[in-house]
Amino acid sequence: MRSEAENKHDYTCETQYEGFFSEFYDLLHSSYDADLPTYLDLAKEYGDPILELGSGSGRLLIPLARAGYRVTGLDCADDMFALCRKKLEAEDEATRERVTLVSGDMMDFNIDAKFNMVLAACNTIFHCTTTDDLLAVLIRAREHLSPNGVFVVDFAVPNVLRMLQTSGIQARFEMLHPDRGTRIIDTYTVSFNFVEQMETYEARIEEWDDGTMLRWSEVTTERAFYFPREVELALKCAGFEIVKTWKGLRGGPLVETSQDMVYVCRAASEGTRAVS
Ligand SMILES: C[S@@+](CC[C@H](N)C(=O)[O-])C[C@H]1O[C@@H](n2cnc3c(N)ncnc32)[C@H](O)[C@@H]1O
Repeated sequence: MRSEAENKHDYTCETQYEGFFSEFYDLLHSSYDADLPTYLDLAKEYGDPILELGSGSGRLLIPLARAGYRVTGLDCADDMFALCRKKLEAEDEATRERVTLVSGDMMDFNIDAKFNMVLAACNTIFHCTTTDDLLAVLIRAREHLSPNGVFVVDFAVPNVLRMLQTSGIQARFEMLHPDRGTRIIDTYTVSFNFVEQMETYEARIEEWDDGTMLRWSEVTTERAFYFPREVELALKCAGFEIVKTWKGLRGGPLVETSQDMVYVCRAASEGTRAVS
């Protein structure tokens, strides 16, 4: 019989950023690390101080701080902060001192500081499930920019063909737990609603040792998906002018096979705003 402590991860999560799911965030997102060189380049050009909206486990925030930039991370998930703090413990004191973590909602926050670069990286804007939420985040970002500061947003361009082919079909992913060597089984289904432009993600994650299941968690969450022209319009409505844009996080040309869209924007001056 398992003790209460051993059972503590057997539960339904509200988001994939808590509990058992958050534990694997970095592993499941390791392929996203290809974006880091781009963010280090952008920081060199525009950065310090930097504000990252939805800073999560510190996947980008910690390397940016290590590279010498002062970074404030805003997030709403306690377990992601816990992961980030744990990773920060392994950093030197100077790096740790460059990091400030703020708990809050990216749609409604006010930090008493201005930033030369504000980031919403890695599909964070997909958590804006309404266009009002999206505008709220963009306006909050703009209001935290210093006069020459830039807002950088990146997100995956919806691959409609692939979404149609995979919608509602269960997928399974297995890996070994990096510390314990146990078997982790992640079973998930992603379904797309093309009228609402919403994605429903249903997942169950289990940890097995030989034939014994040690723990499990389940989650069902919803995110929006946006097409580039919608984000472009939202940026203009929120008072930005786009100074640079590209598909593919390595700054390649706009080609059909690219998967990510990146916008670098500045606050438009009052008189030149697309929408006042
Ligand atoms: C896709 S993860 C990206 C994490 C990190 N930026 C990265 O690149 O690895 C999105 C993050 O946004 C956070 N988040 C979602 N909704 C939020 C909100 N309304 N306010 C603040 N953070 C939010 C989540 O907790 C999560 O850590």
